[in-house]
Amino acid sequence: MPKIDVLQLVKLRPEVQKELEARYTVHPGSDTDKVADIVRAVVTNGHSGPDPALIDKLTRLEIVGSASVGYDGIAVEYARSKGIPVTNTPDVLNDDVADLAIALMIMTARRLVASDRYVRAGRWAKEGDFPLAYKASRKRVGILGMGRIGREIAQRAAAMNATVAYHSRKPVADVPYRHYPDLVELAKDSDFLVVIIPATPQTDKIVNQAVLEALGPGGILVNVARGAVVDQDALVAALQSGALGGAGLDVFAEEPKVPEILFGMDNVVLEPHVGSATFETRRAMSQLVLDNLDAHFAGRPLLTEIR
Ligand code: 8YV
Repeated sequence: MPKIDVLQLVKLRPEVQKELEARYTVHPGSDTDKVADIVRAVVTNGHSGPDPALIDKLTRLEIVGSASVGYDGIAVEYARSKGIPVTNTPDVLNDDVADLAIALMIMTARRLVASDRYVRAGRWAKEGDFPLAYKASRKRVGILGMGRIGREIAQRAAAMNATVAYHSRKPVADVPYRHYPDLVELAKDSDFLVVIIPATPQTDKIVNQAVLEALGPGGILVNVARGAVVDQDALVAALQSGALGGAGLDVFAEEPKVPEILFGMDNVVLEPHVGSATFETRRAMSQLVLDNLDAHFAGRPLLTEIR
């Protein structure tokens, strides 16, 4: 039987990529025009499309498989309206993203990046002890979003004896944490505000100046979701003025651009969108993309279709 043609906008992990290439005829994104009428699947991630124009161009497209949990960069609604399912990779990355959220809380409060820099610059021996920082345990942790990853963050924070509360549109039935219907109120009552909601038109810049000011000079913002959900200009201004105490950021408004003004701030920790970036998790994400493609072309139910 001839192999099915797949358009690949992003590569999978090498061990899974090998399997993909063994079972399918794989075409790189640069060949899109040449293969537009033969490809039946697209492999992508949450930032790389396809957009409606590409979906229209691929006349035989049957399925889109994304190696990401977020899908703000994919025209999911449009694909679905044409009967093309889109799959993502939920759950397999929960641990890594939650671990990073907690790491950013601790690193920012305890100034661990600045103190590491202090040692490396030879300043400890010359200038003596590093200034005191802030405690991370037993604090009030507000979580914006109580989905799969939000729950993992809450559990880890609870293990640090935090008082956990959250904001989401509706209270989540089976969690023991207090629900705040109002995000500003949650920020007011939090030492850390951890952002873990998808980027949608409704959540665009939901963390605005009022939320940041409510979090206040003693508060720390942690964002492991998407840059778009925070008003980045307001964030930079609040950090500059001292209206906000600190920030631990894995995501930014226009990646890979990061406002350079943040580079010199010891109360800010910056990561290059590494939430799921471990060998184990990226392999599991890749495998799930392939498993969904295999299921589709074997006529079996999809494992993780976005609905
Ligand atoms: C990566 C992510 O950016 O899953 C997501 O939504 O943001 C990350 O895991 C990326 O999609 C990995 O390919």
